[in-house]
Amino acid sequence: MLEIDILAVVPELLEGPFSHSILHRAEEKGLLKVRVTDLRTFGRGAYKQIDDYAFGGGAGMVLQPEPLADAILQMQGDRSYDEIIYLTPDGPTFNQSTANQLSLKARLLLICGHYKGIDERIREKYVTREISIGDYVLSGGELAAAVVVDAIGRLIPGVLSDETSALMDSFQDDLLAPPVYTRPAEWEGMKVPEVLLSGHAAKIEEWRYEQSIERTKNRRPDLLRKDEEA
Ligand code: ADE
Repeated sequence: MLEIDILAVVPELLEGPFSHSILHRAEEKGLLKVRVTDLRTFGRGAYKQIDDYAFGGGAGMVLQPEPLADAILQMQGDRSYDEIIYLTPDGPTFNQSTANQLSLKARLLLICGHYKGIDERIREKYVTREISIGDYVLSGGELAAAVVVDAIGRLIPGVLSDETSALMDSFQDDLLAPPVYTRPAEWEGMKVPEVLLSGHAAKIEEWRYEQSIERTKNRRPDLLRKDEEA
């Protein structure tokens, strides 16, 4: 069972992703629990303020430390987290290896930033890991959190009906997945590779491996180099 809390500024953005998909089934099976908490409920004053201007000037607001700390402390009071993760474009880039590691944890807290980000002191005091989902800037961390939860959630044993299928994904062994085909065996004059129809398991395995290597060489040679360096 993996429990994930998400501290969000726009919780509405997270209503969709987890109520359909495979992750919904995972929740129904009791393998995953995702809770979304609205940072605004920890805001100050009549307007429930959570952000303020950046010291030193410049455009954009910064999430204040007090509401974030109050939220984190309250959530930590309810359960202890293995990791407190801040979604931010200046973090290390998320990949399959990080997803594998996180899928083995029991409790995670994901913090979504907004505007110019969160006060640096919260990162220093509470955050144990930072994650970027790519070299581009989103308007907030919520969609990044959804990506991370989806990638982690499907790796929890029992979530995918065929447990081996996650192991066959692209990137699990630093190779891209081979091409796949389904019926009909011939479509618009294009035929499915003969070997896949042969029923010869070892040959099929070999073909898939070769295709994976070929595809990775052509599309992501950096992954093969990474392998050589390791
Ligand atoms: N917040 C804004 N942009 C982001 C990104 N690329 N990854 C993670 N969190 C973000």
